[in-house]
Amino acid sequence: MSNKSTDEFESIVLDLLNEDPVKKMEYISCHGSANFLEHSINVAYMSYRICKRFGLDYRAAAKGGMLHDLFLYDWRDGEHNGRHCFSHPQVAYKNAMRLCSKADHIDDLTDLEKDIILKHMWPLSAKRPRYRESLVVCLADKMCAAMESLHMKRIMRKRTAHLIAV
Ligand SMILES: [Fe+2]
Ligand SMILES: [Fe+2]
Repeated sequence: MSNKSTDEFESIVLDLLNEDPVKKMEYISCHGSANFLEHSINVAYMSYRICKRFGLDYRAAAKGGMLHDLFLYDWRDGEHNGRHCFSHPQVAYKNAMRLCSKADHIDDLTDLEKDIILKHMWPLSAKRPRYRESLVVCLADKMCAAMESLHMKRIMRKRTAHLIAV
């Protein structure tokens, strides 16, 4: 299902979806039956819609939302138990920085996009978001996690399901 807003959203995140580190998220399970690629698309799309509605930087929200959980390891294995909740934004940030600096067609992360990734675990973590867009992504992350945990995937993927196959 496609419309004007999904077309614009897709144009913002398409280059990211074609990058190997982003594709890898499909193989890491997340909340409920979702994987991290689905979760990231859900968070990015919800953040994009909210930011667009309120006149905020929806491009940064979509990009930050796509990259906020780019930590690329199985968070359920014993190695990361306990620390994951607070340490994964930093790992995602480093991976996102590397991805953006390597890919010629993707701009380096802005201060806003860095803040979105690094602070997305607030208020569980003490690092308070500096921008309104970061707060939106914090909120979208929690809402999407709850909906994914309740297996509301079909409702959430109505407008973005086609992006998984990109
Ligand atoms: Fe996260
Ligand atoms: Fe997340």
